[in-house]
This record gives sequence, structure tokens and C-alpha cells, in this order.
Amino acid sequence: MDEETFDGLMVSTDAALIVVTTAAENERAGCLVGFHSQSSMSPQQYGFWLSKANHTYQVSLRATHFAIHFLTASDLAMAQRFGARSGEDTDKFRALDIHSTEQGVPLLSALPNRIVVERISMLDDGGDHVGITARVISSETTGPFAPLRLSHIGDLSAGRDNDSRAIDPKAGG
Ligand SMILES: Cc1cc2nc3c(=O)[nH]c(=O)nc-3n(C[C@H](O)[C@H](O)[C@H](O)COP(=O)(O)O)c2cc1C
Repeated sequence: MDEETFDGLMVSTDAALIVVTTAAENERAGCLVGFHSQSSMSPQQYGFWLSKANHTYQVSLRATHFAIHFLTASDLAMAQRFGARSGEDTDKFRALDIHSTEQGVPLLSALPNRIVVERISMLDDGGDHVGITARVISSETTGPFAPLRLSHIGDLSAGRDNDSRAIDPKAGG
């Protein structure tokens, strides 16, 4: 297996970036996500993957609803806020204008291109991320936009290292 070739292919796809937010039992969470896609046309469904290392993953285990905020090319600061810090040790939502859905999911006013989804399934296939599939229950947009892509964010280090995952698959048991 040539990991560098695979990495090169993935870099070439230049993924559009999103911020996923959620909440459970009054605990809010959110992170930058590059692994995501529409996953069904009829009904409209969306899929995304969360790292087991992330605070957002911990909260997602108890959450039913999520907001998917699509970043535009001018949203670099939001990508840094949600991608380079962890909710384990900082409140990423502090000083942001937020309103919540009836399920308590935080909607970020600064990111108005978004969908709210309800979880259908969560798949743990042994990788370092879990896949969540969800039905789209609402969508909002200010109109067509140029997405913020992987190639726009430079050398942004993730706030949580995948090696610090909550469950170590090498530990057995
Ligand atoms: C370019 C980029 C793409 C990322 N893609 C994902 C992703 O698809 N899924 C994920 O769970 N984390 C992804 N991350 C990592 C999280 O956004 C990051 O570790 C974040 O600080 C986790 O915050 P949390 O611990 O508050 O959940 C990505 C980070 C970067 C910089």
C-alpha cells in the first residue's frame, strides 16, 4: 500500500470544507470537517465522518441532530477556530452570534449557507473516523458561493490529533 500516492490523490480532490455543529444535554460541540458528501437524492441525505479523537465525536454519540455549515472562500477564520482548537479545552462558540434549533443545535450566524440534519446511522468500521448518515430536514443559503477548500487553508494543524482517539484499536479488549 503506497500511502503517499493515496494522500496525493486526496489532496488533488481539494475538498470543500464545512463546520459541523451539534449538541447533547446542553453540551455544544463543533469542528471543521473535510470528509463529507450528499449521500442520497431522494430522499435527500448527507453523510460526514467524525474523528474518534474529537470532542465533537464524543458529543455526537448522544446527539440526534447536526448543522452542516458550508464555508465560503472568505471563512478562513472560522475554519481556524473550529479546526485548530478542541472543545475539550476551549469554548469555540464564545463571542459568536448563535441561535439554536429546537433540538438545541447551534447555528452560526456568520455561516448562513447550511443544512440541519437528523441522524439515521453511525458506522464505526474500525477506522479512526465514524461515518454518520443523516436526513436533511432544512436548508438555507444566501445564494451561490465559492467554497473554502483544503488548498486555501495552508498548514492548519488539527486541534485534536488522530492518535489521541478515545478508543485505541491496538489496545485490544
Ligand atoms: C483541513 C482539515 C480537515 C479536517 N477534517 C476533519 C473531518 O473530516 N472529520 C473530523 O472529525 N475532523 C476533521 N478535522 C479535525 C478537526 O476539525 C479538529 O481536530 C478540531 O480541532 C476538533 O475539534 P473538537 O475536539 O472540538 O471536536 C479536520 C481538520 C483540518 C485542519
